[in-house]
Amino acid sequence: MRKLLVTSALPYANGPIHIGHLVEYLQTDIWVRFQKMMGNQCLYFCADDTHGTAITIRAQAEGRTEEDIINEMSLAHQKDFSDFGIEFDNYGSTNSEESRAVCHEIWKSLRDADMVIEQDIDQLFDTEKGVFLADRFVRGTCPKCDSTNQPGDNCGNCGATYTPAELVNPVSTLSGTTPEVRTAKHLFVQIEKLHGFLNEWTQSGTLPPESANYLKNFFLNEPLRDWDISRPGPYFGFEIPDSPGNYWYVWFDAPIGYIGSTSQWCAANGEKLEDWWKSDDVEIHHFIGKDIQYFHTLFWPAMLKTSGYSLPTKVHIHGFLTVDGEKMSKSRGTFVRAAKYLEHLNPAYLRYYYATKLSSKVEDLDLNLEEFVARVNSDLVGKVVNLASRTAKFIQETGLSASYPEDGGLFESFADRGDDIAAAYENGDYSKAMRMIMELADQANPFVENNAPWELRKDPDNTQKLQDVCTVSLNLFRTLAIYLAPVLPDLAEKAGELFGEELTSWNQAKSPKVGGGIAKFKHMMQRVEAKAIETIIEESREEAAAAAKASETPSNWDDSDEAITATPIADEITIDDFLKVDLRVARVIEANEVPEARKLVQLTLSLGGDETRNVFAGIKAAYEPADLVGKLVVLVANLAPRKMKFGVSEGMVIASGPGGEDIHLIEPGSGAKPGQRVS
Ligand code: MSP
Ligand code: ZN
Repeated sequence: MRKLLVTSALPYANGPIHIGHLVEYLQTDIWVRFQKMMGNQCLYFCADDTHGTAITIRAQAEGRTEEDIINEMSLAHQKDFSDFGIEFDNYGSTNSEESRAVCHEIWKSLRDADMVIEQDIDQLFDTEKGVFLADRFVRGTCPKCDSTNQPGDNCGNCGATYTPAELVNPVSTLSGTTPEVRTAKHLFVQIEKLHGFLNEWTQSGTLPPESANYLKNFFLNEPLRDWDISRPGPYFGFEIPDSPGNYWYVWFDAPIGYIGSTSQWCAANGEKLEDWWKSDDVEIHHFIGKDIQYFHTLFWPAMLKTSGYSLPTKVHIHGFLTVDGEKMSKSRGTFVRAAKYLEHLNPAYLRYYYATKLSSKVEDLDLNLEEFVARVNSDLVGKVVNLASRTAKFIQETGLSASYPEDGGLFESFADRGDDIAAAYENGDYSKAMRMIMELADQANPFVENNAPWELRKDPDNTQKLQDVCTVSLNLFRTLAIYLAPVLPDLAEKAGELFGEELTSWNQAKSPKVGGGIAKFKHMMQRVEAKAIETIIEESREEAAAAAKASETPSNWDDSDEAITATPIADEITIDDFLKVDLRVARVIEANEVPEARKLVQLTLSLGGDETRNVFAGIKAAYEPADLVGKLVVLVANLAPRKMKFGVSEGMVIASGPGGEDIHLIEPGSGAKPGQRVS
């Protein structure tokens, strides 16, 4: 039996869990459940990452304390995780006393190893908001690769880390102003002192090869920079014991939260922390996203090494989620909160779909909404659950055959696949495991179809054959449910209820279940309705729009580049070209439907005084005529009149949008007067 300690990255307390996060927590949960089924002792720890400026800003804005907010967020996060079937052995907080104690201990080790130095540094100060800016509240151009709109700590494009003051053209996302550089004392950890160790450790097979190579080529061939781990107060975090007024930077205490959470579990379970974090018998597995590799593969091992804690056995690194090929986006409605998903869909669908996409490679994965529907419906409902739903009802009275019937070697070949599928889970190649399982399902279904139990039941002479056919189908289903159990714990539970047993061990797939009764078949899984997904996207979009409206801070602008990409800027013109177009403010004084025309509304526009124009506008799908009366619009006033079927159109009102319902009249500001020229 292996002893495994597993972690997922600690989610920030300042935002909700979304479907991007879930890639990681589901990936980890599947691995943990798999290990438990293999009979290993496996503990899964996580916590909320609570410290830093983000929480303070929110606390100020809402007039609450930081503690109040992080407690509320922790409950919300834990509810989301639990609703998705993600089961932690302990869920802690970086703001716990257990975490603080470990911070003190590790800090002392770093001091004792003479790895801490003090240096004045320039930090960006938002003069409008009166705060030093946390790295994430500054955006600018990466000093290493020149990529624009990068955060203040770590470049999303090239992975470089730097201080916010090194960013080119920095902007405060809190106020949109250019921050000022101010000097303050900071504490630094000299991880260069562990260069040799880190070089060896990162190349020792602990990391995915892509990440190991990347570190070697990019970071480890030059001296490692000193790591700035303090922030001057006020700062929501732990004060540094031997440096009053200074606090540990959030990324110092964040990974220590892994140990803090373990420590809480140990206290509650009568175990010793050193038996888990300082023992050679325990494997430590971190699951993280590619954006936070640097912290976990250089800083964190350096801290652990210096303080005598165990180093991770393996750091599993995944890529980022895209939705229909694009980055998750609030304006497109693809930034879907976990709780929003659950309002409309079964968590099992996403657990399975992600499993079909995950591998051990550091690759982004795409949630293709059409494929999501197709996969779940054809694989889970069509191939797996079907095996049970089409057969269980026929042997309700007789139960399973007393001995396992002849099945042409099907069960045995199912059982033989167990090791390969287990190896795929172990390596994080869930997509491969899912493929193998579905290949088995593809062998099981023809068996049911060829033996047609629904025909057999019509003839009482076939009672034995019917029982045998159903016994085989249900056992094949049972094996699939066991192999899928790490991904679909609910399905395994329902399958277990059918057979009157708990399906909790991988070994159960080795021998068939015979002779027992079969419980009444209960519905196991419904098909996904594409409509539900549309609703989720639509509601997420509305939610994001409402939130963006409620807050004017530039950090919440998240305009899509869809429109500008679809219609690139036209060829350059001169001012004279522009002035040929006479644009005028006009008021709609009358608006009528044109019954014979699907798209048109007839408008009477006033340019002030007696000056009016009759205009036909193709905006019927977007506007009710009655709602238009009184509105100010912009008229192209010197356009040649155009004779149409229903009358003459004397100009054109301007609007944006691709068409149909998505048309938006350009409305002048409220002080504008009809007749004024627009230029
Ligand atoms: N608080 C830090 C982690 C500290 S670990 C000691 C953090 N938090 S996070 O909430 O931003 O992200 C938590 C995890 O979710 C990270 O591993 C991150 O990579 C992952 N993901 C966040 N958004 C994601 C996607 N869109 N796609 C895939 N994973 C994503 O980072
Ligand atoms: Zn860069």
